[in-house]
Amino acid sequence: MTYRTTLFTLLAAAIPAAAVDFKKDIQPILEEHCYECHSELKGKRKGGFVFDDLETFKLDIADNDVAQIRPGNPGGSHFLEVLVNDGKNHMPPNGQLSSGEIKKITDWIVEGASFEKNDGSKPMVAVAAPKKDLPPIMSWTNAEGKTIKAGFVRLDGENVVLRMPANGQEVPYPLAKLSDESQKLARDCAAP
Ligand code: HEC
Repeated sequence: MTYRTTLFTLLAAAIPAAAVDFKKDIQPILEEHCYECHSELKGKRKGGFVFDDLETFKLDIADNDVAQIRPGNPGGSHFLEVLVNDGKNHMPPNGQLSSGEIKKITDWIVEGASFEKNDGSKPMVAVAAPKKDLPPIMSWTNAEGKTIKAGFVRLDGENVVLRMPANGQEVPYPLAKLSDESQKLARDCAAP
């Protein structure tokens, strides 16, 4: 073997296996095992989660403590934990994904949990940086101490407009009804 072909063989071996493609590799798994209970189309939103409406599903994917899927961080992704744990929130409730299916989902999260076709040429985590127009889910506390999980959309007069993760709806919420800390969070989010 010439030096050239040896080098080529080495390089080829270093290229990872084909990147995971959400539509081809992940969606069929979710369709088979999850959409029965987590589907906008079927009107099933168990636990408030739908995985077939991607605009809504996207709200669960972000790099923060409350997101179900943290791009590039399978260990911090609750979505993956419920597939492998044997707690009472195990998913699917009466089933078990195969190790091959779990590996695909893990790889997809490692590669950035993007819905776009991933040709492997983009850096991992940067691919999945949440779009600016789709705010990550944050925890808000109201004056009574109740927690609301929602994305920040904008400030609108005396209201903060929040995006509800369950249905993607934008809901104005009076700033005055939020805790001081959450009011500050809203102002920080709105700051340019
Ligand atoms: C038979 C119905 C059913 C199926 C199928 C199902 N789920 Fe669920 N799922 C639920 C219910 C009910 C809840 C709410 C449970 C709760 O809040 O304790 C839930 C909650 C969840 C949660 C939030 C868990 C938590 O700890 O709050 C995640 C994530 C989830 N499901 C993912 C999935 C995934 C991924 C699949 C497919 C692999 C799936 N589910 C399949 C019924 C289902």
